[in-house]
Amino acid sequence: MKRTLIRQVHLLDPAQGLDGPGSVLIEGTRLHSVALEDMDPAEADVVVDGEGKYLLPGLVDLHAHLREPGGEVKETLDSGAKAALHGGFTTVVAMPNTDPPVDRPELLRALRARVRMLKGPDILFAACISQGRSGKALSEILLLRDAGAVAFTDDGDWVRDGHLFYQVMTYSAAFGFPVLSHAQDPSLYREGVAHEGPRSRKLGLPGIPRSSETVAVFRDLEIARETGGYLHIQHVSAAETLSLIQDARAQGVRVTAEVTPHHLLWTDEVLETFDPVYKVNPPLREERDRETLRQALREGHLEAVATDHAPHTTFEKTTDWLVAPFGILGLETALSSLWTYLVKPGLLSFSRLVEALTSAPARILGLKDRGTLRPGYRADLVLFDPEAQWEVLPENLYSRSRNTPLLGTTLSGVIRRVWVAGEEVFPFP
Ligand code: DOR
Repeated sequence: MKRTLIRQVHLLDPAQGLDGPGSVLIEGTRLHSVALEDMDPAEADVVVDGEGKYLLPGLVDLHAHLREPGGEVKETLDSGAKAALHGGFTTVVAMPNTDPPVDRPELLRALRARVRMLKGPDILFAACISQGRSGKALSEILLLRDAGAVAFTDDGDWVRDGHLFYQVMTYSAAFGFPVLSHAQDPSLYREGVAHEGPRSRKLGLPGIPRSSETVAVFRDLEIARETGGYLHIQHVSAAETLSLIQDARAQGVRVTAEVTPHHLLWTDEVLETFDPVYKVNPPLREERDRETLRQALREGHLEAVATDHAPHTTFEKTTDWLVAPFGILGLETALSSLWTYLVKPGLLSFSRLVEALTSAPARILGLKDRGTLRPGYRADLVLFDPEAQWEVLPENLYSRSRNTPLLGTTLSGVIRRVWVAGEEVFPFP
């Protein structure tokens, strides 16, 4: 079996508390040895010099919209896979709000067969909670589970029908999978397009209040408490949501939560730009929300960072704020933007960021062979150059879409190489 040695590199694996110079030996598809010391290059067929760089476990994204089937003009499994690798993600969970939605085992099997033909990250699939994402009748949960669904969600919409949500949470309790909730009560925002607050009122934009999130989270938590199911709250945006989650968790409710890079980076101040590139759901809220999210990430109450990578065409995202679709790209810029704007200025430790992008999401998904650098685990690795910079220009992105507010900016932190199951898959040949 082929042996690759990566040496003289800074190993960072928060799950094991590894943080220092060392080396990693890959054998075939798995990690053979990991040590905070040098290894003999004679051991290996290929030797990679990692000097001045970090070696991280491959990143895991709990939340990406890869748009296949039906939205191929925005993204495909292939372009999404390339974007993921460019951003250091070696495992990605694709959301089922496609057209048609992923609510049938046959479709899920066909998509998984497509993924097996791609040489890239492990793309996993979440399937719909309700048939057609209509919120009316439960999907064939167990058949979808047998077909490979790793989680269930009607992402993009909250499951408003309490009975339906109760049913899926009962399945979750019995079978252990996470239910990913886009917790936002639509009756509390109707035609809302921006955070409900002084800015939206000044501009006359229909608002999306914090209560649309807290009310939905509260209901979900109560159902999780009663059923014993595993609830994961997607893209937390409002400060008040954190205390609900923390209280429930302290009382033994099985709940985890994610935060997106965009909710950590920006606030509703961007409404002044009128640029719909910032239009996202849930919306960017106020400074106190952003500060609470950052604090909760630092303290681990928000355990994972998930991109909510949501590609849309330039045509759609350059229309009026009122009609543009919600969504911001995330896969290619998550690590370097958070490194640049949170870690480098000392607002977040690198170790906590890496944990939130690796072992935390792997644990949420119950993936036992990744997210950390342990012998025997899949050799999913990222070589990260912290000093180098790159420009977020259209020609430097692999996504089919360009809807990121970071376009035209320079970020620190470049992903130099990525291995998936022992094979070097980035840079692309
Ligand atoms: O901003 C968003 N975009 N939020 C969602 O819930 C859905 C997503 C999308 O699919 O574009």
